Amino acid sequence: MSGNGPWGPVRPRMSRQRTQLIYLVGFMGSGKTTTGRRLADELHWPFVDLDQTIEAGQGLSIRQIFEQLGEPLFRELEHAALTEASKSEPGVIALGGGTFVQPANMDFIRERGGTTVWLDCPFEELLRRSEGIETRPLFRDAASFRHLLEQRIPFYRLAHFRVSSGSQAPQQVVEQILRLDLF
Ligand code: S3P
Repeated sequence: MSGNGPWGPVRPRMSRQRTQLIYLVGFMGSGKTTTGRRLADELHWPFVDLDQTIEAGQGLSIRQIFEQLGEPLFRELEHAALTEASKSEPGVIALGGGTFVQPANMDFIRERGGTTVWLDCPFEELLRRSEGIETRPLFRDAASFRHLLEQRIPFYRLAHFRVSSGSQAPQQVVEQILRLDLF
């Protein structure tokens, strides 16, 4: 896919080097952490959740990092966490909702290799899961949430695989991933 996305030219779909790294991509509430942990258990691989790594490194919650340090610094920490997490293989890595749409991160993942899986979930379900949760600083209201999702979908579509994570239990999402041509 190519053309212009909301934030400039959309990059072509990634070619794939079959390293033993799986990156879970998707919007807030799509189930990246839950699915990632279970998938890693099934594969007997280590699991890294980027947001949790950043929180542990700073001794602050994601919300506090946004409020006290600002989003640009959060994005730097996120890139550093991505680089670090990608050093060891095999591994399952749950990205944050904005990780994959940052050009430097997408370029890094492309060069590092590995497999990207987009957990695609309908807007209403994402909203239901994220509403009222205080830990997500970028969640303000339904309209801005939808707008952000629409901006990001063209980037998520660049992942190697898409699995549906809306109406299914986490274990079913994991089983869908395990059925993909991953290795
Ligand atoms: C963000 C999503 C969050 C977290 C931060 C920014 C985003 O991760 O990284 O609040 O830009 O969409 P989750 O997708 O795990 O909620």
